[in-house]
Amino acid sequence: MSKKDTVTLIDNSTGKEIELPILHPTNGISTIDVRQLYRKLGYFTYDPGFLSTASCHSSITYLDGLNGELQYGGYPIEQLADHSNFLEVCYLLLEGELPTKEEFAEFKTIITEHTMLHEALKRFYSGFRRDAHPMAIMVGVVGALSAFYHDEIDIHDPKHRMIAAHQLIAKMPTIAAWSYRYSHGLPFEYPRNHLDYASNFLHMMFSLPTVAYVPDPVFVKALDLIFILHADHEQNASTSTVRLTGSSEANPFAAISAGIASLWGPAHGGANEAVIRMLTDIVESDNDVEYYIERAKNKDDRFRLMGFGHRIYKNYDPRARIIRKTCHELLTGLGSSNEYSDLFKAAMELEQIALEDEYFISRNLYPNVDFYSGIILLAMGVPLNMFTVIFAVARTVGWVSHWDEMIQDPESRIGRPRQLYVGALPRDYPKDSD
Ligand code: ACO
Repeated sequence: MSKKDTVTLIDNSTGKEIELPILHPTNGISTIDVRQLYRKLGYFTYDPGFLSTASCHSSITYLDGLNGELQYGGYPIEQLADHSNFLEVCYLLLEGELPTKEEFAEFKTIITEHTMLHEALKRFYSGFRRDAHPMAIMVGVVGALSAFYHDEIDIHDPKHRMIAAHQLIAKMPTIAAWSYRYSHGLPFEYPRNHLDYASNFLHMMFSLPTVAYVPDPVFVKALDLIFILHADHEQNASTSTVRLTGSSEANPFAAISAGIASLWGPAHGGANEAVIRMLTDIVESDNDVEYYIERAKNKDDRFRLMGFGHRIYKNYDPRARIIRKTCHELLTGLGSSNEYSDLFKAAMELEQIALEDEYFISRNLYPNVDFYSGIILLAMGVPLNMFTVIFAVARTVGWVSHWDEMIQDPESRIGRPRQLYVGALPRDYPKDSD
């Protein structure tokens, strides 16, 4: 390690100094290795929300927020969206390489063969209230999978880990669709092996015993795109939750269930739902888009335009650029006869005004992926409370890929952040006063 690959930290209170190594990535921002800091200088680092902290090595996804870049295994998301499909992306995230034709055929067969659920799992659904939120059902049922497969899994055996990954990717659409069916009092539809991943999900959501659902190819393509764009996003809150839970060598199904719980929060997976609620408010206010724009710009008003801005992407969300086109095509195809046409009109007006408004331009506030995915899902007839569930179906492959990578990493340890204690100093328990 040369001197220029280090950072010197001087403690001005003691005069002690320490050289900390700089670790270089294959792409992106270098990282200061602070592991010796506590042992040599007696300090922890303080970084709420881990916004400046790299917690692991990872070779799954690369993200550059300033330049609006997202790559899975080095492949730009734009190229994957144009030329790949969700199952191929799953293989790429899990294995680090695109599959050959033979590998893809084999992978597809494996996933197809795992789509059924153990019949006894059906009974878990009836334990929930009829009006339970589908995300609550997902957290419970995916966690319950650990009771079905716990003893069989040796997480240190790569083959066992891959079987768990395949089971999760395959079963998640069935679990998700059945959450919807249960909460709507509809009978469960079994998966159909001749259908592709997205069509099969739509079939399990919308087929009735009386009427078979024939998936619209435009919807199938749009859903597959939503799955691709949400498949992974490196160390976000739910993925970090899966890593942290799995770091104790917990059962993978339990770890993924923890990830689903984290995703459920409105600050993470719930944003596209918030977009539709905002658009509904706009329509109900006689389409006063300007009023909402003014509210978003007003410093004294806590209101923000939902689906605008991003914590990491400070110029443009590359996923939004891709999905915007699909959204516009889909809305044009639907025409004005759709029951949500007023809402779609308000969305397009809002997008137009915000893209031309100085306030939004100067702050680089563009519509993000959630703005468009919410509109697409609504157009497909997906109920609002299923939006985050669909995100969870897509993100499952990202979660299991990170879990697998973490178990393999020789530097991986049980997650144990430290704290800056600001509580009471030691004191005695009060004695009884006579
Ligand atoms: N509407 C109006 N103004 C906004 C918005 C918005 N949606 N987002 C940011 N701003 C303004 C802020 O008021 C601030 O203005 P100022 O410089 O005059 O004080 C400036 O833009 C910078 O905002 P920050 O809060 O510093 O940006 P930050 O990176 O912290 O926030 C966030 C990002 C949370 C996504 C924010 O843009 C937001 O709340 N957006 C709406 C919710 C949303 O769509 N979330 C989904 C994110 S995408 C995802 O999770 C997949």
